[in-house]
Amino acid sequence: MKNITRVLSEEHQHILKVIEIVLNECTQIENGKEPDKTFFNEVINFIKKYADGYHHAKEEGILFKAMLANMENMHCNPIPVMLHEHDTGRQYVKGMIEALACDNKQELIENAKGYCYLLQNHIYKEDNVLYPMAEQALDESQKQQVEELYNLVQADEFSEIIIQAFIDKISRLKSI
Ligand SMILES: [Fe+2]
Ligand SMILES: [Fe+2]
Repeated sequence: MKNITRVLSEEHQHILKVIEIVLNECTQIENGKEPDKTFFNEVINFIKKYADGYHHAKEEGILFKAMLANMENMHCNPIPVMLHEHDTGRQYVKGMIEALACDNKQELIENAKGYCYLLQNHIYKEDNVLYPMAEQALDESQKQQVEELYNLVQADEFSEIIIQAFIDKISRLKSI
């Protein structure tokens, strides 16, 4: 039996690692540290290109569509909520960019923490509810198709190979 969500759960682990670093940075700012713009710009770049541009693109463009085509095999439809949460995440990122542009520390922390808590919760729901539903709702040939479509999506500069280096880099920036 093919598994088409394990790879997405592995991507979640990278996102959760970055979130942990961001929450740590927010705590330090709340304790008086000045926000490091380079750090936040790197984080925003990661969210836009990897979390949203790669991971969410695979969910929205491939997995969710395959699930919606198999609604009769699902006991409920959690996809509208998932899409709404992706959009809310984008709003938080917009808020972070605006806060950085006008040096608004409070707004930066609020949006950064809002994003982190939203995504932690979102990822928990996907790993524990949505992905198991997908594994159960799709048959083998549909899973094969999903896998082939995944392979067409490029991670841009955040390939699996360099993502660990990126996480190490922002960990270092955070500790400066
Ligand atoms: Fe998602
Ligand atoms: Fe996800």
